[in-house]
Amino acid sequence: MIRKMRAAILDLDGVIVDTAKYHYLAWKRLAKEFGFDFTESDNERLKGVSRLRSLEILLEIGGLDVDEITKQSMATRKNDWYVEYIQRLDASEILPGVVEYLKSIRRRNVKIALGSASKNAPLILERLHISCLFDSIIDGTKVRQAKPDPEVFLRASTELGIPPEDCVVFEDAEAGIEAAHRAGMGAVGIGRPCALQDADMVIEGLYQLVALLK
Ligand code: G6P
Ligand code: MG
Repeated sequence: MIRKMRAAILDLDGVIVDTAKYHYLAWKRLAKEFGFDFTESDNERLKGVSRLRSLEILLEIGGLDVDEITKQSMATRKNDWYVEYIQRLDASEILPGVVEYLKSIRRRNVKIALGSASKNAPLILERLHISCLFDSIIDGTKVRQAKPDPEVFLRASTELGIPPEDCVVFEDAEAGIEAAHRAGMGAVGIGRPCALQDADMVIEGLYQLVALLK
């Protein structure tokens, strides 16, 4: 249930910017090095999933079994390529309505936090020039448990000083919607309703809410 929103907690990938295409390029390159193909539909399985878990899914797709040290070096290799790709990100890649929506809720005294599994989140916000819109940034370096565990959102609620029941999460991944509900927060799904059936409401993008606030 969505009640009064005193804080908005946003996921990054798929809500603020479409970085999935860059994750895809880097995972595909890694798969190619190991002699197998990795398709766009395989990539759907990695959305909202932590880096290490993503690698495990990739290895499963390729039918590979590797030791921990190899896993670590594969994850590092993938991340080096990913970081290289996102160096080219700029504000033109922010999804429609994001900046307008955040500025307008901020004017209404709503606190804003980032709640992302990505360890690259601060770099991405910086490249997009929107770090200043956030009162708190909780990324993959600050939490131990990945979504659907609620840790990332509960940590944001604590840092903002707003109780969970007054926070609303914006998420494009099912695991994120589950994490929001487990945290006792409302959840707005961004994407297709059929893929986000547990969300309290689903919209295509934040641009749809900008129109409502005018
Ligand atoms: C987000 C993305 C995932 C990504 C994860 C970790 O949840 O949706 O695709 O694997 O962050 O990102 P990182 O930048 O730390 O590898
Ligand atoms: Mg996401």
